[in-house]
Amino acid sequence: MTDFETASKSFLISGKNYSYAMYVNKSGYLQHLYYGKRIDKTDVPFLISAHGENCAPDLSDFNADMLTDAMPAEAGSFGKGDFRSATVIVRRNDGSAMSSFKYLCHKTVKGAVKLAGQPCVRKADATLIITLKDDCSDTQIDLCYTASENSDVLVRNTVIRNCGKDAAEIVKAYSFCVQLPDTCGTYSALRLAGAWASERKPVTTPLAEGELKIQSAHGYSSHAMNPFLAVLAEDCGENNGECYGFNLLYSGSFAITAEVSSNKSVRVQGGINDYMFGWKLNGGESFVTPQAAVCYSAEGLGGMSRAYADFFRGYIINPDYVYKRRPIVVNNWEATYFDFDNEKLFKIIDEAPKLGIDTFVLDDGWFGKRDDDKSGLGDWFVNENKLKGGLKTVIDRCKKNGLKFGLWFEPEMVCEDSDLFRAHPDWAVKKEGVTPSRSRNQLVLDLTRGEVVDYLFNAVSKILKENEISYVKWDKNRDITENFTANLPAERQGEFAHRYTLGFYDLAERLTSGFPNVFFEGCAGGGGRFDGGAMYYFPQTWTSDDTDGLERTKIQWGTSFCYPVSSMSCHVSACPNHQTQRITPFDTRGAIASLGATGYELDLSKLSGEEKLKVKAQIENYKKTDGLVLRGDLYRLCNPFTSNYFCEMLVAKDKSEAYVVGERFRGDPCDHDRVLKLEGLDSNKVYKIVELGLTASGKALKGAGVMFPRLPDCGAWIWHIEEVK
Ligand code: GLA
Repeated sequence: MTDFETASKSFLISGKNYSYAMYVNKSGYLQHLYYGKRIDKTDVPFLISAHGENCAPDLSDFNADMLTDAMPAEAGSFGKGDFRSATVIVRRNDGSAMSSFKYLCHKTVKGAVKLAGQPCVRKADATLIITLKDDCSDTQIDLCYTASENSDVLVRNTVIRNCGKDAAEIVKAYSFCVQLPDTCGTYSALRLAGAWASERKPVTTPLAEGELKIQSAHGYSSHAMNPFLAVLAEDCGENNGECYGFNLLYSGSFAITAEVSSNKSVRVQGGINDYMFGWKLNGGESFVTPQAAVCYSAEGLGGMSRAYADFFRGYIINPDYVYKRRPIVVNNWEATYFDFDNEKLFKIIDEAPKLGIDTFVLDDGWFGKRDDDKSGLGDWFVNENKLKGGLKTVIDRCKKNGLKFGLWFEPEMVCEDSDLFRAHPDWAVKKEGVTPSRSRNQLVLDLTRGEVVDYLFNAVSKILKENEISYVKWDKNRDITENFTANLPAERQGEFAHRYTLGFYDLAERLTSGFPNVFFEGCAGGGGRFDGGAMYYFPQTWTSDDTDGLERTKIQWGTSFCYPVSSMSCHVSACPNHQTQRITPFDTRGAIASLGATGYELDLSKLSGEEKLKVKAQIENYKKTDGLVLRGDLYRLCNPFTSNYFCEMLVAKDKSEAYVVGERFRGDPCDHDRVLKLEGLDSNKVYKIVELGLTASGKALKGAGVMFPRLPDCGAWIWHIEEVK
């Protein structure tokens, strides 16, 4: 997988369809050579002579240091002639920070390298670690490249080491730097931006001279921006052309930058957001950055998405759950909000098994004094005034109906009106003398403090131990403000945001490994934490609070660019929709929700007889196709942002079956002859579209396509495609 040729000090990393090459140039810098389609190691000398030497500065030349500004460095140095953004900046105690990172040594280790206290790739073929030494100080950095023959994702991170005696301060600690050459075309950048109830919408803009920075300063991967950026070559389309994906496996405040320099090459870097960041590194200490999943695709954005789906399923998500049939839940949130009692819940529970639902999830409001969102967060004990007989009566009712039971928590938060806050006001994130910024009447608990993490672990564990709970929905409903902790000295306050994230990982690790039989679902609805770091603990995440049958197509479309469909928890809710007031057909809501981990978010006891039959049919359909949701390849066919349609297709890895879901948003009198071309099928196989009674070759279904069905506003269609043998 990785080769090191001592004669020329060159490295070639190859994965499934890509190669990544670099070498140590004549001045001792680790210089990037190539990132693209897979090549052979016999091509490396050509890359060095034809590409590398062309922009390698010669230090015997009087002006050489300035020439580093045009060199495609594997790690950007600071203040020594490379004027682009640096990858790592360390300020020494005399205030100086210039650096010049040069090759020192390297090693290859078998498998993946475990990052203590952080999510990381669970397995790999090998990791190449190249150590660079700063010519100007006692700092060393390890550039880590983790690769697998079966994956199109190269995992990157950086380790920063203070090899001196004096303490220093890291002010920038990015995880990776990737250089893309000027190809005489214009690159563009795609990011996933949004807002509450409108998350992860793809936005593409051309890259021009200067730096594009996407970031979150929310303390989390946020609603506003996902920690993902793709750089697209000019020829990049949905299923053709080249693109590069940069996906941080990180849940905290992040930044990713793409900088076009004067020679038109692009430097893409990212990691922990350097805004307000600082980390004191004593002599002899190291700092390990989060990992980034970097991906090359020669099959456009669709190829990139499929590579990321395979990566998350194969290397990040808990293997005990990743391919396991997901619980089909009914959740009481939109059915009752806070206003429930035993009887209301029993009505939902009694109805569920008749329709094929297997799990009841009790959402917010079961604990402390929690009749609205003004109080109670932090008090993780049952409110017996509301639930007579406690959780046991609800769980017993579930058991009587053959249902499993799931429970909502929001461990990281506290209301000022709670016993926890009254006992430990200092556990909330705030600064004495500064009025805390409130959001949904709650404050964030200070997870930089070990005793707070311990308390939460014990409080949640107690409930999980004392009750038969098979499912936890882990929510978090606000951003972090007043970044400060009395737990750290003044010179370490810049560490707060990252330490908070490490505290979250610690709690998530302890709870998920302490309760391996409990399925943990994350929640990005109120707080927008949807990222590859959280996915290490949560195989699926509540995708958005917007469950509208039209809006959801956009949210799920955008999310699928870099996450598997099985990571999206998608529920059918009532109409008019509570977020948009729109009325969409029940079948449409079911069809769109079937493109993820499906479930229900409504009062089953209020459904009409006809709707109940529909739920039953939807679940029967889902059980036929959930193997494709868990394991299949996604092909995006109709873009809901640019067309009157949404359509996605899941294809089995062996191409023996496929599942198509589409929606037409508005009636259009002129769309009689519109053709939908299917993707991903085997050209040489013959298929039957069951619902249409049509039989055709994969070649014809892709080349000639099928007529779009004519449907009323927001009408949806489902096609099952089977191979005819
Ligand atoms: C968030 C979640 C919802 C629900 C509420 C409860 O908004 O996204 O699904 O759990 O919190 O307060």
